[in-house]
Amino acid sequence: MKKHLGTALTTVAMIAGVALLGFLAWSWWQSRLPGNYDVMSYGAIDDGGAQPIAHDHFGVASLTGPKGKPDYKVTLTAEKAPVRLTSGQEVNAWTFNGGAPGPELRIRQGDLVQVTLVNKDIGDGVTIHWHGLDVPNAEDGVAGVTQNAVEPGGRYVYRFRPEQVGTFWYHTHQDASQGVKQGLFGALVIGPKHRPRGLDLALPVHTFSGRTAIGTHDDVWRKAVQPGTPVRLRLINTDSASAQFQLVGMLPSVVAIDGADIAPARVPAGEPIEIGAGGRYDIAFRMPNGVASVEVENSKAALALSPDGTGNPTAAPSGPAFDPAARAQAKPVLQGAHFDRTFQLTISKKVGFLNGRPGRHWALNGELYPRVPMFEVAKGDLVRINLTNDSSSVHPMHLHGHHFLVLTRNGKAVSPWSTDTLLMLPHERYSVALRANNPGLWMLHCHNLQHAADGLTMHLMYAGVTTPYRAGKSAHNDPE
Ligand code: C2O
Ligand code: CU
Repeated sequence: MKKHLGTALTTVAMIAGVALLGFLAWSWWQSRLPGNYDVMSYGAIDDGGAQPIAHDHFGVASLTGPKGKPDYKVTLTAEKAPVRLTSGQEVNAWTFNGGAPGPELRIRQGDLVQVTLVNKDIGDGVTIHWHGLDVPNAEDGVAGVTQNAVEPGGRYVYRFRPEQVGTFWYHTHQDASQGVKQGLFGALVIGPKHRPRGLDLALPVHTFSGRTAIGTHDDVWRKAVQPGTPVRLRLINTDSASAQFQLVGMLPSVVAIDGADIAPARVPAGEPIEIGAGGRYDIAFRMPNGVASVEVENSKAALALSPDGTGNPTAAPSGPAFDPAARAQAKPVLQGAHFDRTFQLTISKKVGFLNGRPGRHWALNGELYPRVPMFEVAKGDLVRINLTNDSSSVHPMHLHGHHFLVLTRNGKAVSPWSTDTLLMLPHERYSVALRANNPGLWMLHCHNLQHAADGLTMHLMYAGVTTPYRAGKSAHNDPE
């Protein structure tokens, strides 16, 4: 009797073991990405509670910028080149026109822009994405979604007419976690038709091989400025981690976030500015009769403005960061508004296989890339997204082609602001609104580009859209 029971138990255990192995093998097998694939064929379509009607069918390649004679023309050539930081340190960078950052593009609102991208020798391929500019979909620069990566020897022409005024940046969106880190990015400023007087500086911050720099200044950047001069500083975080900036010796106000003006908000003394990966803050103040400095925390990089250009930055005690949600209350907006659809987006970690790799991976609504949700909208919709960061990491969530209007944080109404890169701290919840007014197939991903490469990426699609491009190794397209 005992013996029979023992045999039966062993048999059951063996069957269970084989079943488990079979399940694991199957999970592994079906998680593997094919050599190339249409990003639209994987995502699980989520219509946000209402079936969007496709009034027509269109391919992303048809959604191009305006034709005609450009007002602003530039060629950006991607090439490998050594870049010398101001401390003397040389880094092997991937550059645009020999520099990292690439050239600062200053464009006037309403100008027709034409940028020719040439790839000299970046073997992985290159594209240009205009981070924060709501350009037509075919100009968005996402390899495998809106175009093919430009291979060495190739070129691609981007055309758009920016109507937004503010601080943006551009960067490659082919193997972005590598390419941006290596230096394929630059500052992009859209100015009003009449440029105001004063000093206006774009400050792209980047960490090159462990050295943080403002532009190429990895030590103190000194500049002479007449007292009384109006100063506008455009802080751009091009790294994958958040950056904190100390503002000392001036009375600064935040005047814009992510390329959209806000009512000027005074920054109390000792409050650093925290900017998530990919985000921008514009700071304005009147030049004092002394040293006004901006320091990037945990680095040697700083900007020191002074009347004679010889000043040193002075460290200040650093308190909790400036909180855009807690600005003097602008009225809550869209209360009681009718949303055409509402999406939930929860970020967590989950054990499973990501493209055949076992581990704890990022999951969106409980699914691993590429079987993540794909939000489907129709043109004109007012859309609500409830985002939950159910993880202990920071996620700056970036949507292409649109801006989020922040409505609530952790269930409480906030002083609303417009953002394209929403910094979500661990376990935070946000509710945002957007107007679906830019048809296409758009990325929605974490701008910690390593997170994105590890699967924290998905798409927002307009009903009726298709893409002729394919992602994957054999297609040589890897957006993240
Ligand atoms: Cu700045 Cu999808 O990126
Ligand atoms: Cu992230």
